[in-house]
Amino acid sequence: MLRGDRVLLRAITKEDAVSLHRLNEEVETAAGATTSPWVPETVDQVVAYYEGRKPDPANVGFAVQAISSGDLLGTGSVWGIDTLNRNGHLGISLLPEARGHGYAPDALRLLCDYAFRIRGLHRLGLETLVTNSAMIAAAEKTGFRREGTLRAHAWVAGSFVDEALFGLLASEFHDPRTTKEL
Ligand SMILES: CC(C)(COP(=O)(O)OP(=O)(O)OC[C@H]1O[C@@H](n2cnc3c(N)ncnc32)[C@H](O)[C@@H]1OP(=O)(O)O)[C@@H](O)C(=O)NCCC(=O)NCCS
Repeated sequence: MLRGDRVLLRAITKEDAVSLHRLNEEVETAAGATTSPWVPETVDQVVAYYEGRKPDPANVGFAVQAISSGDLLGTGSVWGIDTLNRNGHLGISLLPEARGHGYAPDALRLLCDYAFRIRGLHRLGLETLVTNSAMIAAAEKTGFRREGTLRAHAWVAGSFVDEALFGLLASEFHDPRTTKEL
């Protein structure tokens, strides 16, 4: 478990999977947040997906939990870890009721802490639609720099949207907090 100021990162449980199913019910948000095409999924399918997943050191998923309430806020991941080049990518999706409360930068900092301190990575990438102002603000607040734009890269609910590319090097990551392991 990794603990920040307001959130902690821990393993995803079966009970979490039931709640996380709601992320898939927002079609446009889900379609814009991943590279896979949106398809409908039942709660049982989502639970079976999480239950069937074996720990994968190259794609590490976490539940994001509020410290104060204990509520599940959403999910975050360090994915596509390349151990030769020591890079990887960050992803995060918060449940609708958890958005807009300022949790995202703390969750992103913890994901960076896991990637840089625990896994020894050198570089992280973060890709998001140029229309995703909250994600862009949270990434910049964590220290990510915008490195480019992929024009009309993503087909999202009826139109092509540009994708913004962000990067953060381990040497640039200055975590103002002391991250504690429990
Ligand atoms: C992207 C996401 C994780 C951001 O989390 P959030 O809870 O909405 O954002 P936060 O409340 O933590 O705010 C982070 C920063 O973004 C700013 N922000 C939030 N919403 C904003 C908006 N619509 N426009 C501009 N800035 C915004 C906040 O002001 C804050 O900056 P500040 O602390 O300097 O004020 C969340 O919106 C989400 O899960 N969205 C759906 C899934 C998704 O898009 N995932 C990302 C795929 S790449």
